[in-house]
Formats: sequence, structure tokens, C-alpha cells
Amino acid sequence: MPNRFDYVRYSALSLCHEEITANNVSGSTAELGVYKGDFSRQINYLFSKRKIYLFDTFEGFDAKDIQLDQENKFSIGSQDFSDTCVDFVMKNMPHPDNCIIKKGFFPETAFGISDSFCFVSIDADLFAPIYEGLSFFYPLLEKGGYIFVHDFNNNDYKGAKQAVLKFCKENNITYVPIPDVAGTVIIPK
Ligand SMILES: C[S@@+](CC[C@H](N)C(=O)[O-])C[C@H]1O[C@@H](n2cnc3c(N)ncnc32)[C@H](O)[C@@H]1O
Repeated sequence: MPNRFDYVRYSALSLCHEEITANNVSGSTAELGVYKGDFSRQINYLFSKRKIYLFDTFEGFDAKDIQLDQENKFSIGSQDFSDTCVDFVMKNMPHPDNCIIKKGFFPETAFGISDSFCFVSIDADLFAPIYEGLSFFYPLLEKGGYIFVHDFNNNDYKGAKQAVLKFCKENNITYVPIPDVAGTVIIPK
């Protein structure tokens, strides 16, 4: 599979996949913020025998989330992620039978899920979905699992760092920033 654009981000995913496999960590995978599925595809490729939950509106940001970011001067939320659709994403997934599409506004799309997770990518850009994503997924993360939060060190989306700092402080959790293009932070358990 191609390491599109960001060698450090994709290599970190590969190394975490190796750790999860070597340590026999159980659980499903997920991405919150799929867009056209570039990173989801690599998760689905590496974790070839595991379920992957794909959370996105597939219509871009929600107006409420943008408003909160703007009020707090985290971002202007003007990027348009509406030029995608479920069919496009699914056609590019190497193991489509393992994919569970959760289309719509997160966290509403998470209601009723009681699975556990070994790997989660949170790449939703704005404060509200990132904070909600951590609140939902961290308790369901298996010991030995990892959450990646994209944009922790991205000045265009300052809400990502604020969401991670708030959640980690409230729950006494440590994290590891990595030097990929948008400044991902890795939260292990
Ligand atoms: C930067 S894109 C994801 C990019 C993708 N992870 C990749 O690596 O190619 C951010 C996505 O988050 C989604 N998103 C943001 N807030 C959301 C929310 N509250 N519910 C569902 N999806 C959301 C947007 O629709 C958008 O597609």
C-alpha cells in the first residue's frame, strides 16, 4: 500500500500494528474522520482480520462544531470535506467485509456500540468531535492499544490540542507527540 504524503504518520501506524499483534491485544479498529478513506484504507489493510468502524458525516463538518471552534478562536472551520461518499470509500477498502460504516454526526453515531478497540484514529479536526471521540473511545481501548489524534501540533486546528489537553488532564493520561506532517499525538493504554 502507498504511504501517501506522510511517511512518519504511516510508519507510526505500522509500528503500533506490530506491537498490537506481538502483544496479542484484542479488539476492533476505528477511524473518526474518514473523508476519502486514505488513512482508513491503511488501517483496514494492516488489521486485515479485524473490524474497522468508519465514522464520518461524509458531508463535511457539522455547523455546531464549526461554531464552537470559531467562538474559541481554534479554527475557522472553512475546509470543505463534502466531496466524498460511502461508495467511493468502500470501493477503495482492501477488506470491505470488515468495514462498518457509521454515517452521520458523531457522537450520535456511536450510540449502542459496546465493542472494544485496539487501535483508533481520531482525525476530525475540530475541538468538539475530538473531545467526544476521546471520551467515547478511551474507556473502550484495550490495554496495549493506541489512539492517534491528528493535528495536535497544527496551528490551523488549535482545537485538536485543546481537546487532547483537556481530556488527558481530566483523566490523568499521558501522551506522545510525533513529528508527522500535522503533528499527531499518540495516546497509549
Ligand atoms: C481531515 S478529514 C479526515 C481525513 C482522513 N482521516 C485522511 O487521513 O484522509 C476530517 C473529517 O472529519 C469529519 N468530521 C468532523 N467532525 C465530524 C463529526 N462531528 N461527525 C462526523 N464526522 C466528522 C469530516 O466530515 C471530515 O471528513
